[in-house]
Amino acid sequence: DEDRLLAGFDATIARNDRIEPRDWMPEGYRKTLVRQVAQHAHSEIIGMQPEGNWLTRAPSLRRKAILLAKVQDEAGHGLYLYSACETLGVSRAELTEMLIEGRQKYSSIFNYPTLSYADVGTIGWLVDGAAICNQVPLCRTSFGPYGRAMIRICKEESFHQRQGYELLMTMMRGTDEQRAMVQESVDRFWWPALMMFGPPDAESPNTAQSMAWGIKRNTNDDLRQRFVDMTVPQAEALGVTLPDPDLVWNEDRGHHDFGEPDWEEFMAVVKGNGPCNAQRIAHRRRAHEDGAWVREAATAFAARSRIAGAQ
Ligand code: 3HC
Repeated sequence: DEDRLLAGFDATIARNDRIEPRDWMPEGYRKTLVRQVAQHAHSEIIGMQPEGNWLTRAPSLRRKAILLAKVQDEAGHGLYLYSACETLGVSRAELTEMLIEGRQKYSSIFNYPTLSYADVGTIGWLVDGAAICNQVPLCRTSFGPYGRAMIRICKEESFHQRQGYELLMTMMRGTDEQRAMVQESVDRFWWPALMMFGPPDAESPNTAQSMAWGIKRNTNDDLRQRFVDMTVPQAEALGVTLPDPDLVWNEDRGHHDFGEPDWEEFMAVVKGNGPCNAQRIAHRRRAHEDGAWVREAATAFAARSRIAGAQ
């Protein structure tokens, strides 16, 4: 009887325990998790494109090896998250189709171009820094496979953030041109990084329910504030300015006050009208189509092995 099952589910959530794939769960809980985990996975995979753009043009073998390791990590993050999502009864083939057909989203941040090599450092510092703010609380999300994937991903994300910051620190100790390149990159990525946390809480249709179900542990605005407070001293240590005239420490609040992101721009990018949306999806579609023969071969091999095994 559904009431007893729902009471059990609610009790598990109330004591901050994990819901596992075989546990009974409300259909809305399952659907919200498929939506969020799939879009998180899509973000990791699409996120390989902006940085991948600089793999062949990294300035040294060391920088190339670090960037290669990071881009490969993102692919792995995507695979952990697709696997966590598949425990909810969807297949990554379906999810890939929904991504390519625009029926599922990925993080807005990856629709911005990487115009200079400093962007590789800025993405590590700001984008992976924002991802860490968002993903550490998700280690305690109520759905078991998602939370466990987050624990592994957060460990690798710290390396991503450190390597980006170290790259920028090196450039800031270089020439005036390099310092100008870093500042120009930070100016382009600061506001889109704040938009990664989602719309303001007052305009977030999913936050309340996701908090009630223990899927989200903090609201969008909370995590955005945490990211700003964490990043301001890092920017000072780096010697760059953040492009927000309203950014100022507020002693009474114990936090930094900051300006409003351009939510019109955010909605346009989420709707598919950002600088690189079409390019990102076309690239993903091409990679999917180019990989079809591998999927067919693996399926044929698995079928033949099953027949051989049965004889
Ligand atoms: N980009 C694209 N879409 C976004 C968005 C963003 N930055 N922020 C919000 N949206 C979408 C939501 O998906 C939702 O649309 P949907 O209902 O069709 O899914 C709508 O805007 C309203 O937003 P809500 O705040 O109501 O939605 P959520 O409660 O799902 O909150 C979220 C949005 C904070 C992104 C949440 O889904 C979340 O925490 N997701 C997991 C984290 C994640 O996806 N991170 C991606 C960052 S990139 C990354 O991790 C790669 C790293 O290695 C660099």
